This record gives sequence, structure tokens and C-alpha cells, in this order.
Amino acid sequence: MKRIGVFTSGGDAPGMNACIRAVVRTALHYKMEVFGINRGYSGMIRGDMYQMTSRDVSNIMQLGGTILQSARSETFRTPSGRRRAYNQLKKAGIEGLVAIGGDGTFKGASLLGQEFGVPIVGVPGTIDNDLFGSDFTLGYDTAVNTAMTCIDNIKDTANSHNRLFFVEVMGRDAGFIALRSGIASGAEAVLIPEAKTNIDDLIKILARNYKSKKSSSIVVVAEGERTGGAFEIADMVKQKVPHYDMRVTVLGHLQRGGRPSCFDRVLASRLGMEAVKALRDGKKDVMVGQIHTRIEYTPFEKACKHNQTISPVMLDMVRILS
Ligand code: F6P
Repeated sequence: MKRIGVFTSGGDAPGMNACIRAVVRTALHYKMEVFGINRGYSGMIRGDMYQMTSRDVSNIMQLGGTILQSARSETFRTPSGRRRAYNQLKKAGIEGLVAIGGDGTFKGASLLGQEFGVPIVGVPGTIDNDLFGSDFTLGYDTAVNTAMTCIDNIKDTANSHNRLFFVEVMGRDAGFIALRSGIASGAEAVLIPEAKTNIDDLIKILARNYKSKKSSSIVVVAEGERTGGAFEIADMVKQKVPHYDMRVTVLGHLQRGGRPSCFDRVLASRLGMEAVKALRDGKKDVMVGQIHTRIEYTPFEKACKHNQTISPVMLDMVRILS
């Protein structure tokens, strides 16, 4: 393989730049040319790409976001969109791709690979950590630390006013950010899509805390919680216990930006390097991940199927330690 392409797609995640840097420098090390494709599949369809040099990726390791930008492309979901993307790759002489993104990115990559035989290796890049085949995805560690710091700040004001706060964190279909940031900030309860929420049980926990003279309570709610977001849950609680002084904070995209943590930079560097090596070794239709300290390859289909499970131990930690 003489020429490869690299792109970022879906929601951006801190660490994507460190990964792009690793892909470019590893490819150049092995005497391969590397093209950066702008704005994910949208840019691929338009042929928006350029040949990257080592200098193009200087000083980007510490930056959040992605220098290649990102997008969620509706056109690529159609067979004709994918054909247009393939024609652009062929025209540019690109023989293989490194796709950095989440499950939407890998579903698209899998189709492009099957329909046109393009070898593609994925790197898990999403703050949600909801892919099977890697203990951690790029951006998750940074996002969790950002959420934790925000919740710490909220606790200061919550303590000063004896308030109950509902803090909504990101995670469209997954509760990983909620659970980890909730444990790290000593939340009273964490509500996630993977576990059923019972409002009466939640109220019992909150009542127990009030009795034990805690000066504040924090409930972390994952965005994808099935009962509702933080505002809805707060309303349900308010209806049953109107005397609680409560507030709601939605952290939103704050969690997606910012300087990547050391952990994310190192993970991104390793997975980016391994993705290029995998392409050279003839691998395709797989996501490269790290499990414990080992590099593992998981077929795209399996990586995307929400096989990543929440540890019951973590849920017990919230219950016992709060
Ligand atoms: O990238 C994952 C994620 O941050 C989810 O947690 C969230 O639901 C979604 O992206 C938000 O997407 P957008 O930025 O397109 O609104």
C-alpha cells in the first residue's frame, strides 16, 4: 500500500488530533503517502482532501477538536453517496483508509469496504466510550475529567445553599460518562440508560441523605436516560417532593472540547500508529482497540453493536459510597 487516507467523522473527541499526527507520521515512516480528508464522509464525497506532510501535524497533539474537521453525512448513507466517495478515493489513488470516529463512522466504513473493497481500519474516537473492542475510546478520559471538574464546581455552590442538583452529562445511548464522573465526584445517584430508573427509589435515596444531614445532593443524569433528561427527572421529583430546593445544569458540548488528557494523547498515538501498521499487514473492516495493554482488532459490526457493558460493580459503588 503506497497511499492512504485519514479522516475524522461523527462527534469530535479530544485526542483525534494526536491520532491524526500518529497516522501521518507512521505512514511517512513506512514511506507511504497520506491524504487528509476534510469533514469526514462529506469531504470524501466532494474530494476535499490534501496530501499531508510531517509539518502539517506539528503542534496539534495538545489541541481538542480535529484539524480535519468532522461531519455527520446524510448523503453517505445512500448507495449513490458511497459510490461518489469511492470514485473520489479512486481518482486520488487512495488504497486504504484510517477512519477515526464512533459507531456511525464504522457502520459507514463497513459498507464502503463491503461495496467497493476499500481496506479500512478504524480507531475508536468518541467521548461516549460506547464501542466494543477497546477498554477506552479517544476523548472519553478527557470528557470524564471535564465533567468531574464541572460537578466539583457545582458541589461548591450546592453545599452553600443546601441544594439538590441534577447534572446532565453527554452519552446519547450510553451511561459511561455519567457513571465514571458520578463516582469521581461523589454523586448521590447516577441515572443511566443501561439501568432502569425508579423515581420513588431515587426519592428514598435523597430522603436518606437529607436525614443524614448532607449539605447537598448531586444526581448525575446521562443524556440518553430512558425516563427523561435532567429537566424531566427534576420535574418528576419536584412533583413528589415540592419542598426540595433543586436546580438543573446541562453540561452539553463543554464536555467535547478542551485539551486532551495525557491518557487520551497516549492512547490516540498508539492506536493511530497501530491502525497504519494494520493496513500494511492487510487488515480491513476492523477497529483497532486496546484491551488492558494489548492491541486487539474487532470487526466493525461487532464493535458497533452496543456490546460494551456497564460494570455492575461501578453501579454498586455509587449505591454504597454515597
Ligand atoms: O459524540 C457523541 C456525542 O457527544 C453524544 O454524547 C451526543 O449525544 C452527541 O454526540 C451530540 O451530537 P451533536 O454534536 O451532533 O449534537
